[in-house]
Amino acid sequence: MELESGQVAVVTGAANGIGRAVAAALVARGLRVAVADVETDALVRTAAELGDQVIAVPTDVADIDQVRALADRTIAAFGRVDLVVNNAGVGAGGPSWDIAPADWDRVWSVNVGGVVNGIHVFTPHLIAAGSGHIVNTASLAGLTVGLFGAPYAASKSAIISLSESLRGELEIIAPNIGVTVVCPGPVDTRMFRGLTEMAGPPEGGASASEAMSPEVVAALAPMMEAVAEMAKEILPTAQAAEIILAAVEAGKLYETTHPLMSLAARERIDTIMESFGAPTG
Ligand SMILES: NC(=O)c1ccc[n+]([C@@H]2O[C@H](COP(=O)([O-])OP(=O)(O)OC[C@H]3O[C@@H](n4cnc5c(N)ncnc54)[C@H](O)[C@@H]3O)[C@@H](O)[C@H]2O)c1
Repeated sequence: MELESGQVAVVTGAANGIGRAVAAALVARGLRVAVADVETDALVRTAAELGDQVIAVPTDVADIDQVRALADRTIAAFGRVDLVVNNAGVGAGGPSWDIAPADWDRVWSVNVGGVVNGIHVFTPHLIAAGSGHIVNTASLAGLTVGLFGAPYAASKSAIISLSESLRGELEIIAPNIGVTVVCPGPVDTRMFRGLTEMAGPPEGGASASEAMSPEVVAALAPMMEAVAEMAKEILPTAQAAEIILAAVEAGKLYETTHPLMSLAARERIDTIMESFGAPTG
């Protein structure tokens, strides 16, 4: 979809990080934007900073009624919706068996439920308009093996899968509506900084690893090194936003911020195919 002045976008998780940068990049292209987030103070601040073509709609994406209210507010303010960016996300870490069921529920209800709610509420508006685009933010973690972050990795795999279904269905029912599933690598946000702080704080402060036994720290060392390596490739949010919007304009189903890191996805598929005994070549 060509992004043009006068169009209307909804961006969730837009008070901070990638969502905020996407909203800013859309405003720079002349779009009007409804920004949504659970962090009301930060959201209101963001909307004020982005200018008078932006409205702040405090929204918990896990709550379908609040997502319906987000659509109502957007249409009341701007009269239409062209682009929906289902970006809000949260993480949870630890050994799979140790993560509290409440944390699994929280990650699942925000990451998967939030995208499902966005699709459920906004797709009929786009179908009625006859055009538009939906962006769902997954992660490279959804394409690779996510150790000590199973709820997050599994939720991001689900987003990739459901985006593929949505795209295939819309190709049949409403071919002018595009779908992009974004699989970011490391982007410079609070979420990624939280991960690097586990590997060791940059300056001074206490790290999560200090709370673990020396045996566990030793066992996790290769993973911590991998995170530190990833951090060397960290991308500014504004650059990630430009990649995402270029994917929308190109009508790409899959996009990543880090093509080289995405090679790990091929290793996973090769491992699966090898185990199945599928013919190679
Ligand atoms: N930063 C990275 O390296 C990276 C990598 C891969 C994927 N991602 C994904 O990118 C997206 C944006 O993350 P980010 O890195 O900008 O992190 P971030 O923490 O800076 O931003 C996430 C935003 O989502 C909001 N949010 C959380 N729960 C919500 C809810 N229930 N309803 C509405 N808003 C809610 C938060 O308040 C926050 O403003 C997430 O889906 C994340 O999983 C990020």
